[in-house]
Amino acid sequence: MKSTFVTACLTAASAFALSSTAGAATIAISCGAVGMELELCKTGSDAWAAQSGHTVNIVSTPNSTTERLALYQQILSAGGTDIDVYQIDVIWPGILGSHFVDLSGYVDQPTVDAHFQPIISNNTIDGKLLAMPWFTDAGVLYYRADLVEEYDLEVPETWEQLTAAASVIHDGERAKGNDRFWGFVWQGRAYEGLTCDALEWIDSHNGGTIVEADGDITINNPKAIAAVDLAAGWVGTISPPGVLNYAEEEARGVFQSGNAAFMRNWPYAWSLANSPDSAIRGKVGVAALPRGGEEGKNTGTLGGWQLAVSRYSPNVDAAADLVAFLTSYEEQKRRAIVGSYNPTIGALYEDSEVLAATPFFGDLYDTFTNAVARPSGVTSAKYNEVSSAFWNAVHATLSGNGDAAANLASLERELTRMSRGGRW
Ligand code: GLC
Repeated sequence: MKSTFVTACLTAASAFALSSTAGAATIAISCGAVGMELELCKTGSDAWAAQSGHTVNIVSTPNSTTERLALYQQILSAGGTDIDVYQIDVIWPGILGSHFVDLSGYVDQPTVDAHFQPIISNNTIDGKLLAMPWFTDAGVLYYRADLVEEYDLEVPETWEQLTAAASVIHDGERAKGNDRFWGFVWQGRAYEGLTCDALEWIDSHNGGTIVEADGDITINNPKAIAAVDLAAGWVGTISPPGVLNYAEEEARGVFQSGNAAFMRNWPYAWSLANSPDSAIRGKVGVAALPRGGEEGKNTGTLGGWQLAVSRYSPNVDAAADLVAFLTSYEEQKRRAIVGSYNPTIGALYEDSEVLAATPFFGDLYDTFTNAVARPSGVTSAKYNEVSSAFWNAVHATLSGNGDAAANLASLERELTRMSRGGRW
């Protein structure tokens, strides 16, 4: 009797579930997991699911941009349906764009126009809007404000000043007994992140952007060589030898545990550095990355992530609706406040709640809007090969395997060969 009752109830319940989800889709979205990314992607997607009646599955992907690209290429080149919505790097529209749906039919023009125009044009190929901007990024300098003050230093404005200040604090903290302390941590692993860091060193010395927007290969020049040699001098002095295998999260781990004076990272590290369990909560400052010498300029590499819908998705409409929801003003505002992910909607940089949570979004506004792009537009589908040739040449130099003059000269030959004709 009892079991018949339970069965009857279950049957009724499933009938209700079926009718209430008629037409409902299950959308798989790939999200990054650096810092709070995964958590914020999940809460945002759950909110959309509750509102739309659809279901969302979160697919977590490798932290390394380089590994994530390889995974996506594998799925997309097979026309795979495992993922409907792809979180894609700002450098990938030229590499992966042919697999994505034109979103212009799904998002109205005023909504598109509210985003930073250069990102929209980065994501538009042959008139097709292949991805909606989700958050932007630029490299910034994190510093321990308490230590800069204690050692009577200034926030460094040139890389030479950073080298000197990092060395003073490094020696001082070690003399106090912390033999795990380092002056400066950054991303030195042989992957896309090193391309970002090294482009900052080089461009800030006025040494160009590897391949210029007009197709010229400029990497083999004295300013670029000096910049990479300067960085090679940090390894094993102010930066740990292990920096040669650091990505973003390894650098943050050392800095956030209180064992580094300076860190190069993206804005996401701010919220975490000030989280309740952080050893450096309230002790951190953020500044523009240093200039390369007095004549140099402040350069932050342009990073950031977009959301794109797979052409192979059986549920393009629902997938595009999820993208519109996640890239909206409200979601970008929530992500900016909780996780210091930079909005791509200009108006949010004037929002008082956003600025209260992350004051440097206002102070460093120019750093974000003038960030220097990697040569992904001009090298397009071949960008990853160009970038990997570059990060390998830099990584070899940092590892003491040849100097920058020799390694950048051979990189120039390699890029010339790849370009078939000496120009991109
Ligand atoms: C950040 C940037 C991205 C870049 C990556 C490199 O995620 O937003 O553009 O490629 O770091 O590690």
